[in-house]
Amino acid sequence: MTIHRFDNKRFIVTGAADGLGLATTRRLVSEGARVAMVDIAGEKVAAAAEEFGDSARSWVADISKESEVQSAFDGAIEWLGGLDGLVNCAGIVDFCITHELPLERWQRMIDVVLTGTFLTNKAAIPHLLETNGAVVNVGSIGGMAGAPWQAAYASAKAGVINLTKVLASEYVSRVRFNCLVAGNMSTDIVGNSEATLPPDGITMDEFLEEYGRRVISPNRIGEPEEMAAVAAFLLSDDASYMEGSAVVVDEATTA
Ligand SMILES: NC(=O)c1ccc[n+]([C@@H]2O[C@H](COP(=O)([O-])OP(=O)(O)OC[C@H]3O[C@@H](n4cnc5c(N)ncnc54)[C@H](O)[C@@H]3O)[C@@H](O)[C@H]2O)c1
Repeated sequence: MTIHRFDNKRFIVTGAADGLGLATTRRLVSEGARVAMVDIAGEKVAAAAEEFGDSARSWVADISKESEVQSAFDGAIEWLGGLDGLVNCAGIVDFCITHELPLERWQRMIDVVLTGTFLTNKAAIPHLLETNGAVVNVGSIGGMAGAPWQAAYASAKAGVINLTKVLASEYVSRVRFNCLVAGNMSTDIVGNSEATLPPDGITMDEFLEEYGRRVISPNRIGEPEEMAAVAAFLLSDDASYMEGSAVVVDEATTA
């Protein structure tokens, strides 16, 4: 039996051109929603939206830029006719040993992952207050533990987890905020981010030994659809008593 929890519901998904954002869009549309897909990769997100016919449209924005977020969200919310939820999937990765990490790369990560999450929440909240809506911010297990060579990413994701808790406390019972703390997932985030893996100066053997020991699941890499299912649950009325939770989805990697 197909579940249909989102008939007439209206969502914005960031990072919707690929990976988790695209899988989340697919899941929400399959359950009846209309989705505004926002991404920095304009042609790619426009092409991705074609799959959904009248149920989705695309907007281009760099989420680290307030004016771009505001104009994309204004257009998206006008098209949707209101807003019931936001899923923040946009993100990048970067791997570097900390004492060689250039300030600009640290800053870009904080700008996209942490400031970008703040800006999209900020733009959405006035609309979500009108609908008692819900937000899913995407964190990472790297934001909960020491993830080697990920100083900027892991710090930004730790910020995303705590930002979500702040928002949940501030808007309690009016807008529900939860953080999906994702484990390793089968997507092209390294290629999309133009990141170097293994980091410069580190061999693949060294990387796999250290990173694998600490962060990679001994079992298997998750599929984006498995994370999207949890995001959909957190947006749905089934999660009506969940506010401010950091929901780890990692097949026991951090257990
Ligand atoms: N892949 C993993 O193993 C993993 C693990 C934990 C958490 N996550 C998180 O899950 C989320 C989705 O990642 P994914 O693996 O699906 O990656 P992905 O590269 O497939 O998707 C990320 C999307 O975000 C977009 N994006 C990047 N920078 C942007 C910006 N400044 N403004 C707007 N859009 C931007 C990209 O164009 C891309 O379409 C990210 O927040 C990521 O940090 C991923």
